[in-house]
Amino acid sequence: MPEASVLSRPGAAPSGTPMLELSEIHTYYGHIHALKGISLKVMQGEIIALIGGNGAGKTTTLRTISGMQKPRSGTLSYLGKSIVGSRPDTIMLQGMSHVPEGRRIFGQLTVRENLEIGAYTVSERKLIDQRIQEGFDFFPRLKEREKQLGGTLSGGEQQMLAIARALMVAPKLLLLDEPSMGLSPLFVETIFDIVQRLNKERGTTILLVEQNASMALAIAQRAYVLQTGEMRLEGPAHEIANNESVRKAYLGED
Ligand SMILES: Nc1ncnc2c1ncn2[C@@H]1O[C@H](COP(=O)(O)OP(=O)(O)O)[C@@H](O)[C@H]1O
Ligand SMILES: [Mg+2]
Repeated sequence: MPEASVLSRPGAAPSGTPMLELSEIHTYYGHIHALKGISLKVMQGEIIALIGGNGAGKTTTLRTISGMQKPRSGTLSYLGKSIVGSRPDTIMLQGMSHVPEGRRIFGQLTVRENLEIGAYTVSERKLIDQRIQEGFDFFPRLKEREKQLGGTLSGGEQQMLAIARALMVAPKLLLLDEPSMGLSPLFVETIFDIVQRLNKERGTTILLVEQNASMALAIAQRAYVLQTGEMRLEGPAHEIANNESVRKAYLGED
């Protein structure tokens, strides 16, 4: 087989300039060493799954990338520039958006108001209205609930709202922290569908953190496995899904 087709195969090892690159990142909470020198690359257009058990450091990885947690050492670059020490809003202005663990929508505000808040870095009114409209086109269920308070939505609808809010800045890279957590099986399917559609239809690059490893591995091209702050494995998602230790630890097999 010619080399080029091997390289363009889904899940092949990345070549070229990554959109996002972490190298030897160490992040602490006081004395707690949460990330112990992790490295990771995301290429433009990919869906990357980051899986691992509770407390492995998945959320800390996303918080470090989006500027909410400062790494103590290591390099972190986005679109070819170092973003170590950059503020979250500065990073967001460069086209990165983060859907936090637990959704964090504003329960006392309406669906529309939540979307307005997502656009706080966008100054042009016309652009904000256009993006709210696009959000409603993508999530018709939110349109129907435009004036409803966020806190009265179901878990799955709140997750849609959290994603729609993150899309208000038209991100090139979307960080998703356990979007399927606590949802009914039907909503889990819907959310994974949405992630795939964002990637295919809008070309959004996605870094997806999940405890639901089998679903995440089914839609990702490549995957990374984090365990107690260290990167244990990386590779094409289908290979990770077939890895024996992954199957035992994260896919419920024995
Ligand atoms: N705010 C915090 N203060 C202190 N330790 C924390 C804090 N957040 C996370 N940790 C610790 O950092 C480690 C990684 O946590 P986290 O990134 O939340 O893991 P995951 O998202 O994979 O469940 C865990 O040992 C956790 O207890
Ligand atoms: Mg977490």
